[in-house]
Amino acid sequence: MLRAADQGLMTASRAGRSVIVVGIQWGDEGKGKIVDLLTERVGAVVRFQGGHNAGHTLIIGGEKTVLHLIPSGILRPDVACVIGNGVVLHLPSLLQEIDRLESRGVQVTGRLRISAACPLILPTHIELDRARESAGGARAIGTTGRGIGPAYEDKAARRSLRISDLFDPARLAERLAAAAALHNFVLEHYHKVAPVDAGAMLEELQRLGERVKPLAADTALFLDEQRRAGANLLFEGAQGAMLDVDHGTYPYVTSSNTTAGFAATGSGLGIGAFDYVLGIVKAYSTRVGAGPFPTELFDDTGRHLAEVGVEFGSTTGRPRRCGWFDAVAARRAVLHNGVTGLCVTKLDVLDGLDSLKICVGYRLRGQLVDSTPVFVDQYADCEPVYEELPGWHASTVGITTLEALPANARRYLERIEEVLGVPVDMISTGADRAQNIIVRHPFD
Ligand code: IMP
Repeated sequence: MLRAADQGLMTASRAGRSVIVVGIQWGDEGKGKIVDLLTERVGAVVRFQGGHNAGHTLIIGGEKTVLHLIPSGILRPDVACVIGNGVVLHLPSLLQEIDRLESRGVQVTGRLRISAACPLILPTHIELDRARESAGGARAIGTTGRGIGPAYEDKAARRSLRISDLFDPARLAERLAAAAALHNFVLEHYHKVAPVDAGAMLEELQRLGERVKPLAADTALFLDEQRRAGANLLFEGAQGAMLDVDHGTYPYVTSSNTTAGFAATGSGLGIGAFDYVLGIVKAYSTRVGAGPFPTELFDDTGRHLAEVGVEFGSTTGRPRRCGWFDAVAARRAVLHNGVTGLCVTKLDVLDGLDSLKICVGYRLRGQLVDSTPVFVDQYADCEPVYEELPGWHASTVGITTLEALPANARRYLERIEEVLGVPVDMISTGADRAQNIIVRHPFD
């Protein structure tokens, strides 16, 4: 008979490949499209952090789908979708997303598994998020107002209600009463806004919980079994590295770890289970919400990027701030994520610009620095140092081979490779699933 360790070794040799897809700027790099594309080769797609603050846009055959919580693999019928324990879950948004997909004929039930350990986002979390933001004045973060921060705070404070609590009505009522009492005290007496009806919150949780309970699973075990059976796995990051609660431009960040290491913690697999990290990077920079953004443009080029790139938040519809490619910030994100290869998106948005700039350093009080500042306040004194490259006038939309790109577009990509020190393995040349150049496939 085999000992457990031998069994592990034997199955490990047949294990599937695991790829993590992360944004390495401030989010909105176009991860959803790339995840959907790579999903052709996987058995399961996993969300491991964030919540419905994310907005992943997919365009397939001209039809647009925006997903907030459900992994971007859902449009491929044979792929399992997993929401890992690292995600904070707003049940009304989840069910609305499921209903919308199912009304279009996309089968979700039976394919979506949700970790029983996911903390729930309550209506009071949303009220707290909004009350704080409106009290924040000039120091407001510019959150998406989805209750993400307060929900992660409760997780760390060991106050969360989790999916598993839906299975125990008495425990659910008791924990909700405790959380609601605290939240409502803060809302009423600190923020001076109306409290939320705790009875109505419980009734909603009980009602929606009945629909969600069948989706609850031991997702870490499921993923481990899939991997050992030879299935490839894809881990879909949300937001971007510069919004990571530890490594981003704190406090102007989201409340989860958005970097690749959290794919392990947020799914329950060990770090040895991962093979490749794909860093998604837009060919220029954007940011939604407040916080440092050294290469931000307020001129005609900034307007070009916003208009041609259709730079509006897919969750809140807010206009995104736009600027030149910031290689200093991206290099830092490569470090934090251990990026194996890059995917450059929205290259076509640069078509027609006479010249392009890449920020290769900052001038900080007269000193040239080539890394992001340790103290966030120093960003205000960082002046970008640019390298200028010639632009191109031909269209790159829909190009599928490197050779077909204009020479200056290839030169721009080569320079990104050089300054970030990682190869460009993929290039997205349009919004549709088919519009890509694949130099090296992450699953090869
Ligand atoms: P929160 O995640 O709603 O707490 O917002 C915190 C910061 O992260 C704000 O600047 C948001 O604009 C930003 N943020 C959150 N989710 C996304 C996203 O999916 N894309 C881009 N920015 C995001």
